[in-house]
Amino acid sequence: MEGYFAVEAKPRSWKKGLAIFGALAIIGTIAALAAFSAQKQVPLALAQIELEEGEFKSFMAFYNKQYSTEEEYQRRFRIFRDNAAYARVFNTLGETYLLGINEFSDLTAKEFSDRVSRPFDHSKVTKNVKWIESLSIPSSIDWTQQGAVTPVLNQGQCGSCWSFSAAGAIEGIWKISRGILIAVSEQQLIDCSTLYGNKGCEGGTVNYAFEYVIKNGGITSSSNYPYIGKQGTCKNYLASQKFVAISSYANVPANNVDQLYKAVAQQPVSVAVDAGQAFWQSYKSGIVSSGCGTQLDHSVLIVGYNQTNWQPYWKVKNSWGAFWGEAGYIRIAVVNGKGACGIQMMPSYPIF
Ligand SMILES: *[C@@H]1O[C@H](CO)[C@@H](O)[C@H](O)[C@H]1NC(C)=O
Repeated sequence: MEGYFAVEAKPRSWKKGLAIFGALAIIGTIAALAAFSAQKQVPLALAQIELEEGEFKSFMAFYNKQYSTEEEYQRRFRIFRDNAAYARVFNTLGETYLLGINEFSDLTAKEFSDRVSRPFDHSKVTKNVKWIESLSIPSSIDWTQQGAVTPVLNQGQCGSCWSFSAAGAIEGIWKISRGILIAVSEQQLIDCSTLYGNKGCEGGTVNYAFEYVIKNGGITSSSNYPYIGKQGTCKNYLASQKFVAISSYANVPANNVDQLYKAVAQQPVSVAVDAGQAFWQSYKSGIVSSGCGTQLDHSVLIVGYNQTNWQPYWKVKNSWGAFWGEAGYIRIAVVNGKGACGIQMMPSYPIF
């Protein structure tokens, strides 16, 4: 488990991290090339594998990966090579986004989707629907630039995306209303909102988390009730030390781009997406507009949008660590109807 919480446990600048990773990869490449030219009798295919193994070893060191047996090491190396090769080929296709190596590069597509994908409860979508009547909104907004978004975290091997999405939305509206940014406790939501319909690490729904926080009269901070990435019993003595509160929540009218723009202009908004497609595993940068279904299985947080960009997009905060995607974020194209990856199907936000 250590490696999965590295981002939280020992915060280090992701830029520095990337620089180290890059340097390791370059050193590995040069070393392998030197070995290749020094002994020209090595067949090309073997030299290629050496190169890739250098890359794999840099990856293992960077993400603190350990494999218990030689067999497991070889299996993970093969999967890593396949993923790296897929990303290299994909990146030559001239798509609007790029793939790359990250923490998930030693997982098969199936292992990855088993880890991140959880069943969803849509039953609360038609309740509490609120239309926003505001006449004008900015052409772009980024709540991270307004100091209303806490650092990206890593949910690890727990299906708790819903708690990160809900926590992020609560943090946003508290900052916007009260002027203070406080990281609130995902672990409290995981341990304590079971009676409201959530299932801890087996999945949950943002609106149930909001309902719990409303009934509880607030939520404590994440430093008071820290994330451990597995469900435990509710620690009532911590859950009762409330730092942040909300009064109610609202659903954005489903499949309505205009209403979602207005909601995001107001505050960060929780959304559900279909993260079942392979690109989610290896997404590195750019704007995703296609290749995505509408089988909602993952919760994230929209923290901004940009209508003036050549391709308008939603800026989305994920909970897979700051080394995934664009420093932990993904940009998803704004398209009508259900939206790319179903992002317009189930948006909701807490009300201060
Ligand atoms: C929106 O996109 C335009 C054009 O790419 C860019 O100049 C602007 O800085 C972006 N706005 C935000 C808030 O990111």
